[in-house]
Amino acid sequence: MISEMVVGSSDAIASVRTMIRFSINAMASVLITGPSGCGKEVVANAIHRASKRADGPFIAINSGAIPTELIESELFGHEGGSFTGASGRHIGLFEQAEGGTLFLDEVGEMPLSLQVKLLRVIEERAIRRVGGKKQIPVNVRIIAATNRDLQKQIAAGDFREDLFYRLCVIPICIPSLAERPEDVAALAEHFLNQSEDHGARPTISDEAVARLARYSWPGNVRELRNVIERATIFFPGQTIGREEAELLLTERSVGSMHAEMTDLDDIAQDNSGDSPVRFTDGFSLQSHLQDEERRLMIEALVECGGVIAKAARLVDLQRTTFVEKMRRHGITRDDRQAA
Ligand SMILES: Nc1ncnc2c1ncn2[C@@H]1O[C@H](COP(=O)(O)OP(=O)(O)OP(=O)(O)O)[C@@H](O)[C@H]1O
Ligand SMILES: [Mg+2]
Repeated sequence: MISEMVVGSSDAIASVRTMIRFSINAMASVLITGPSGCGKEVVANAIHRASKRADGPFIAINSGAIPTELIESELFGHEGGSFTGASGRHIGLFEQAEGGTLFLDEVGEMPLSLQVKLLRVIEERAIRRVGGKKQIPVNVRIIAATNRDLQKQIAAGDFREDLFYRLCVIPICIPSLAERPEDVAALAEHFLNQSEDHGARPTISDEAVARLARYSWPGNVRELRNVIERATIFFPGQTIGREEAELLLTERSVGSMHAEMTDLDDIAQDNSGDSPVRFTDGFSLQSHLQDEERRLMIEALVECGGVIAKAARLVDLQRTTFVEKMRRHGITRDDRQAA
């Protein structure tokens, strides 16, 4: 099962799978390191799905993509009337991940002030909502990931050493694809099997595999996935030889544009799967929708660099309506500037 999720025949991937097996039923935090596109989220997901927590939610947050002022309330939630001026209560991701796994992606980008708070939460296994008084116990497994060198960041004073040791109880290091060319064949096969139209599935010759294995893969597995996806479009039902492989690699500038599109597809797919929503006691559709509205508005603001008019257009609201909702959700001027 783990080998179906984390594909590869290299020694490096074999030890990644071993580490996953060690870690599945531990509570200890896992730190996954490796360059962009090498499969960090794949590994985090595999740990969750192979663990006893598989029926619980898997919630991912990208610490680099959320404005500093908002991460705390995103993670820990906030009480109505807290410093953000919010009128309603917001349940944070820690509470939403109850009984499951919280994936802290790009943890190296987390601001120092929040690193202190995260460390305390891990040690106390309890959170406090922003503006709240009581400690709320949480049962959440933390998996963190980064493509940065945290040791260097520690030396530079940008990452707390104590948090590093807390997160890195189980370290999993994924090398770049160029360092494990043996995996190219299995991964290519894996992505071909995933293509929707099986009739159009091309066959990859040994020469083509050898050519792909020699390529440097700056975008790692994500780039290979895109090359294979394009192979199914360019050469449906055909055999890909050495020349075709060459063509797929030289056309790769188109491929990297495609890579971004596929990432969005990834997100859409992830979201269309098992919903992390739990209908626990006290669940209210109304307040859930409110939270969702708030989250999407912040996302729109972030995407538009904080320009309200643009963000309003993005979500198809009148500017005035958007501003009114910002006020109601306690999305403040500071938030917007940070965005
Ligand atoms: N070992 C693997 N087996 C199967 N699929 C993989 C593997 N490694 C990566 N992939 C695929 O490659 C793509 C990129 O993987 P993933 O998103 O996990 O990378 P990442 O390390 O989190 O990248 P980033 O640092 O950019 O967030 C995904 O489509 C994923 O399914
Ligand atoms: Mg990732």
